[in-house]
Amino acid sequence: MLERLAQIEQKALAALQFVQEEATLEAWRVAHLGRSSPLMTVFDGLGALPKEERPAIGKRANEVKKLLETALGERSETLRQAALKRSLEQEQLDVTLPGRPFPLGRLHPTTQTLREMFRVFGEMGFQVYRSREVETDEYNFQLLNFPPDHPARDMQDTFFIKSDDERGDNPLILRTHTSPGQIRAMREYSAANPDNPPPVRIILPGMCFRYEEVNARKDIQFNQLEVLAVGRGITFGDLKGTIADFARRMFGQNVRTRFRASYFPFTEPSAEVDVECFLCGGQGCPVCKGSGWLEIMGCGMVHPVVLRNGGYDPEKYSGFAAGIGPERVTMLRHHIEDIRYFWVNDLRFLEQF
Ligand code: DAH
Repeated sequence: MLERLAQIEQKALAALQFVQEEATLEAWRVAHLGRSSPLMTVFDGLGALPKEERPAIGKRANEVKKLLETALGERSETLRQAALKRSLEQEQLDVTLPGRPFPLGRLHPTTQTLREMFRVFGEMGFQVYRSREVETDEYNFQLLNFPPDHPARDMQDTFFIKSDDERGDNPLILRTHTSPGQIRAMREYSAANPDNPPPVRIILPGMCFRYEEVNARKDIQFNQLEVLAVGRGITFGDLKGTIADFARRMFGQNVRTRFRASYFPFTEPSAEVDVECFLCGGQGCPVCKGSGWLEIMGCGMVHPVVLRNGGYDPEKYSGFAAGIGPERVTMLRHHIEDIRYFWVNDLRFLEQF
């Protein structure tokens, strides 16, 4: 029996030499130290041995068991160390490699332009006033002195909100310009003190929508920045000065501006403002259609009817207003040739700003 124990020991140790990974090590443990291993059968058979042989055999069997357990522990540690060494060699980190760039979000080019306009007008004392995108025909047209048959009211230009057919001659629409905010703001300001309404110095930014044929210069959605100043003794000179100052701050000290007489129902007199084309320096090029000038806004003195609709007595108060196209301005500054790029969410375009 002692010989058999020596064999068991030898065989087990020999087998252990071949074990190269943790999984086989467990198989080895089951085979040589497990419940039904040869060594355990020796323990199981102790009781059947003659009484005088039992102590020696039992002692030796315990020794073999301890020895195998120790060998198992050592082998396990060796394997663990080897695995660690391997992984340290193979999975080396090269800390000198350049990092992977993290994709960063950024502001939409129109938002950047709008924020710059907020800054420029902010320095002149104007505050941002937010007005709604879904408007009524009344605010978008009627209160702004649009005659009932004005071509801009045509179905072609306006998106109607479908569910509102029953509103008759005051349907809900998507605003076609930011000008209805003039009425909303003036009414809010004057409601606080109808007899002596406070002066107004605001800019009204936001999306506008028109049912238009889309092309390089026109899209069905675009931003506007409305400017409105109302108070006592405001003149066309104030409008000109403010706009010229805005253009200089926005486009550079030396930029030239030009006012052209125009027509809008809600201003009288009305004008359109051109800036010198900075692509060609005023020489004339395809972008400015050979004229040397680029139109950036409409403006004028607030029409007496509009002032009255806003709660300001036109006998006592006057004001000027303007509507600027931020996408238009962005196109000029960055030489963008097609307005459709702005709202198709193409990262190749957006990532350039
Ligand atoms: N609302 C006009 C448009 O969308 C732009 C405009 C022109 C706004 C003159 C004004 C203004 O405030 O005075 O075409």
